[in-house]
Amino acid sequence: MKQILSAIAIIVLIVSLVVISFTIQQANDEQKNLTLDLQHRSSTLADNLKTSIEPYSNGDSNDYLQTLVDKSADKERLIGLAVFDNKDNILAISSDLSKELTVSSQLFVATVMDSDNADGEFLSPKDSQKVYVFAVPLHTTDQTTGKESVSGSLLLMQNAGYIDTAVIEIWKNNMIRLLVQAILLAGAILLIIRWLIYQPIFNLVQAMRNARSGLENGKTKLGNHFFFQPLINEVTNISKSLTEARTIASQEARLRIQKLDSPWTSQRLKEFTKDVLKGRNIVVVSNREPYMHEKHGGRITYLQPASGMVTAIEPIMRACEGLWIAHGSGNADKLVVDKDDKVNVPPDEPKYTLKRVWLTKEEEKGYYEGFSNEGIWPLCHTAHTRPVFRKEDWEEYQKVNGKFAQTVLKEIKNMHKPIVLIQDYHFALLPRMIKNARPDAMVGIFWHIPWPHAEGFKICPWRKEILDGMLGADLIGFHTQLHCNNFIDTVGHELEALIDLETFAVQKGGHVSYIKPFPISIPFLEETSSLTDDDFDKKEFLKDMGISSEFVGVGVDRLDYTKGIPERLLGIEYFLDQYPQYKEKFTFIQIAAPSRTSISEYSQFGEKVEKEVERINNKFKIKHWKPILYIKKHHTHEEITKLYKAADVCLVTSLHDGMNLVAKEFIMARSDENGVLILSQFAGASGELKDAIIVNPYNTEQVGEAVRQSLEMMQSEKMKRMKKLRDIVKNYNVYRWSADLLKEMVNLE
Ligand code: G6P
Repeated sequence: MKQILSAIAIIVLIVSLVVISFTIQQANDEQKNLTLDLQHRSSTLADNLKTSIEPYSNGDSNDYLQTLVDKSADKERLIGLAVFDNKDNILAISSDLSKELTVSSQLFVATVMDSDNADGEFLSPKDSQKVYVFAVPLHTTDQTTGKESVSGSLLLMQNAGYIDTAVIEIWKNNMIRLLVQAILLAGAILLIIRWLIYQPIFNLVQAMRNARSGLENGKTKLGNHFFFQPLINEVTNISKSLTEARTIASQEARLRIQKLDSPWTSQRLKEFTKDVLKGRNIVVVSNREPYMHEKHGGRITYLQPASGMVTAIEPIMRACEGLWIAHGSGNADKLVVDKDDKVNVPPDEPKYTLKRVWLTKEEEKGYYEGFSNEGIWPLCHTAHTRPVFRKEDWEEYQKVNGKFAQTVLKEIKNMHKPIVLIQDYHFALLPRMIKNARPDAMVGIFWHIPWPHAEGFKICPWRKEILDGMLGADLIGFHTQLHCNNFIDTVGHELEALIDLETFAVQKGGHVSYIKPFPISIPFLEETSSLTDDDFDKKEFLKDMGISSEFVGVGVDRLDYTKGIPERLLGIEYFLDQYPQYKEKFTFIQIAAPSRTSISEYSQFGEKVEKEVERINNKFKIKHWKPILYIKKHHTHEEITKLYKAADVCLVTSLHDGMNLVAKEFIMARSDENGVLILSQFAGASGELKDAIIVNPYNTEQVGEAVRQSLEMMQSEKMKRMKKLRDIVKNYNVYRWSADLLKEMVNLE
């Protein structure tokens, strides 16, 4: 747009220069013509009057002269006239001129008499319009000598202001014309660019994008455009080829569904959902959106928030092309949605629709910061941070759950037996609200965080309402069997409900909810190809980060008190104390994505981590080396993948975690089958990833020893462990997770 505006500005500038130079010419001509005309008129009039006035210029008949002057003064644009004797005395003067006569006019008359030549000049008296004065000398002939001498002068004063007015008028008219022309020209250029260039290019891009993403199966109509016809033909052919290739891939994936040992891919999930859902729509609801649009310095960009839930659900939505409803929290989110608050995402390669729900500041504070993150989050993570439950937060939580319920119900209004997948602890009340209004909808809620034991859950004043809300779902999913057990136990303690421990089902008010573990995962297969080992130069990468150590450890977390970052740092301190030979040889990179910063527990925690990093660095630093590189900022998946590839060891030391996908992402990045994972026994992932070094993060010595063990592990051992870990994550990737969840839901009917 900037370039188009600059081009328009240049064209308008050129047109303006042309118009201005023509105007200068026109104004000069007009001024010249009017001046000549005025001079000519003045001299003709003066000549005519001179003949009748000259005989009386000796001062003998002043009354007659005055009558003559008065009579002659009545002419258009003539201010007046006056007759002077040769001593510069006024013999007769018209009444209007007597008011206007200035010293400069009188001086001019004297000059004319001295030179004995008629002359004219423009005068610009103060406070009045420009005038033109013209004077002719009058003569008398001496009767005796017959000699002619100057006896006086006739002065005419003409109004000359109209010449300037005419010139100004020319400028005014031409400038108005220029303005109109510039507006029309700019409009015409914009229209031409839009119709002839922008629209066809936009259609081409759209067609290519659709062809690439499989939307509309490459059938976008491109129409005929003279300029772009060859390009349009080419794009149409590419689209056709892509559609054919996709059809073949889809047939192959269908065949693979039959073969149970083949890997789960997005294509396989797509075919699977087509097969199993038979055209039923999938709607995902979460608080956190998969893409946030942000405005920085006038430019709109987007980012993927640091969220395990987003990491897991996004690839599924890409594969299933459903609708995702989430809170629009980016500062430019409103600028990119359509009238229904929807936007197609991923922004570079649209595959599904994101519908944004807007929340007020109060709603966000009460529902998100307060009840969800100061209440339920610490309640479910047994990480020794006191949960805070406030009545006003609970009220906002109920209100926002209701708001999302209305949005979901509106969206599924015309859908036949839709599948609604609710994500996480922000929406405990939503399943009941939806199920009550749409009993035909298949409702599932997946709880991405741990579920505490029944005694711990008693802290929540609204525990019964929360459980009742969740039990509106047909399927309630957790990461681990332990969390399912805790949930069933909690229901048993809190509600009047029929519990079937054989099928893990709860019957309440005639409705049955099934409680099942689904250990969530990551896409695994496809994403690894984005950065191959051959492309990656570890040394160069670390050098760019200012690291020259032989060994590198990495930790990647949201800055959250459940992630065990200070415990990890203590472990590193212990390691360097016990094994000082690693000083200057080992650097630990801690990536911390700022999170929930408006909650005081989080900001205080951030300060605590920074202080701890500083303390340990000061204790060990030698010349340019320091043991910990702390980077507090949001990173893209690509950037983090590089870090994982560069690390000898990755530390995941959560004090309590539903699953922890960082552990799985590290494994995915290690296509070289190298690197060691240190994993907390309190992260859900530890149930599957047995070949990691499993530690208790509260046991500093154990964490420190694990770091040493990982650095000194035999290469063959490292590779054996990593291979097994990779097999596990590859085999149970997020596509399989999703297929299992959907299959379970459909089978419940
Ligand atoms: C956890 C939750 C997610 C949440 C994420 C980030 O992983 O299970 O639902 O999105 O933390 O937290 P945030 O508050 O930034 O969404």
